[in-house]
Amino acid sequence: MTTSPQAFSEAGKDSLAEKARDHLWMHFTRHSTYESGAGHVPVITRGEGAYVWDDQGRRYLDGLAGLFTVQVGHGRQELADAAAAQARELAFFPLWSYAHPRAIELAERLAASAPGDLNRVFFTTGGGEAVETAWKLAKQYWKLVGKPMKHKVISRNVAYHGTPQGALSITGIPAAKEMFEPLVPGGFKVPNTNLYRAPEHLRDDAKAFGLWAANRIEEAIEFEGPDTVAAVFLEPVQNSGGCFPPPPGYFDRVREICDKYDVLLVSDETICAFGRIGGMFACEDLKYQPDIITCAKGMTSGYSPIGAMIATERLFEPFKHGTTYFPHGYTFGGHPVSAAVAMANLDIFEREGLYTHVRENGPAFRATLEKLLDLPIVGDVRGEGFFYGIELVKDKTTRESFNDDESERLLRGFLSKALFDAGLYCRADDRGDPVVQLAPPLIIGQKEFDEIEGILRNVLTEAWSIL
Ligand SMILES: Cc1ncc(COP(=O)(O)O)c(C=O)c1O
Repeated sequence: MTTSPQAFSEAGKDSLAEKARDHLWMHFTRHSTYESGAGHVPVITRGEGAYVWDDQGRRYLDGLAGLFTVQVGHGRQELADAAAAQARELAFFPLWSYAHPRAIELAERLAASAPGDLNRVFFTTGGGEAVETAWKLAKQYWKLVGKPMKHKVISRNVAYHGTPQGALSITGIPAAKEMFEPLVPGGFKVPNTNLYRAPEHLRDDAKAFGLWAANRIEEAIEFEGPDTVAAVFLEPVQNSGGCFPPPPGYFDRVREICDKYDVLLVSDETICAFGRIGGMFACEDLKYQPDIITCAKGMTSGYSPIGAMIATERLFEPFKHGTTYFPHGYTFGGHPVSAAVAMANLDIFEREGLYTHVRENGPAFRATLEKLLDLPIVGDVRGEGFFYGIELVKDKTTRESFNDDESERLLRGFLSKALFDAGLYCRADDRGDPVVQLAPPLIIGQKEFDEIEGILRNVLTEAWSIL
């Protein structure tokens, strides 16, 4: 499970932290820490650029862009203005048989940037809904074209694809699922592309490992029966588990397999789109053509919620005729205020050259984090663009990881608090092996890379000494 950053400031009586403890039900959060008084709820009150401040006035470098979201940084007046102007003009109208200008403009803009003929945009309010939408579309599409048994989905171990019950079936994290079983049937898992934990004979040959991992998808399709498999859901760079980029050739082989068995390839870019890897869509950075893209978070840099499923012309074609329609939607999908904010946000990307900035500075960010490899606790630094995971190990030579108790003490008992106290908001996570995850706003440069490295160095050195 995720460890949420825990603030440990001295909250006063009747403080916001106390009110939060008594009334706010936080997401993926162990409330016992707060109930027992062992810690106070961290309350973040404002943000500017790459930094946020808490209610005690302390400053933190936002090493996770909120939640992989605040691409252009905090405190952008023009995004607040865009929201206010839209709320004044048309605060709300649904996309249920009607349209409004901002959704139309945004759909056109996304379609223009998405590769190939990914031209049809279905708006949601977030990433999980986009994933849910993609699975439902895949099921209906195959029914409409005469392959009604195609309904199953293949995805990867430890991957996170959201919390609606369909998206949760696609998610590969048992601890996030077991309390909600039985989930939507039809979700099957294959190995992910964690090269550091690859079978030993493949660890030194990324290409061979990529081929091996892709072939596991073919194996699963064969095993389940190609006539029953609707889609494969993959992130460009898998977040959960700590940033697994695709090995060379991986997506070429996946595309080949999907074509061979008539299975849709869904690129879940909830995190990776909007500059996180470099381009507006990461499938372009990594050079593959999906049938569907799902995206959300960075589209508005988090200033207002929105998500989208972008589908090819081929998938939309059956919906152009007769009485056929997609019986699916969300009241707030494509909300006018969010769509207006997204347009203004994408203007900032273009005006400030953020895609180029990530492409040019990603290698320096990586190189700065790789300095940490001289620490005994740092086993691996991996990722792409402005998106990195640092895997922590007990023994670098054998790659031995921490057991559950050690992981609990290390991540929850020490690291989350110590990093936050040291002024870095990021995530210490053990949904796979223990990792520290970094995905800062896309506006930072060497000064902040050094600040992140410095804080991590001090805290990880201390962590090793108290283990
Ligand atoms: C790859 C991926 N898919 C889906 C989701 C779910 O998105 P949301 O929380 O907006 O529903 C996430 C959230 O982090 C994600 O990382």
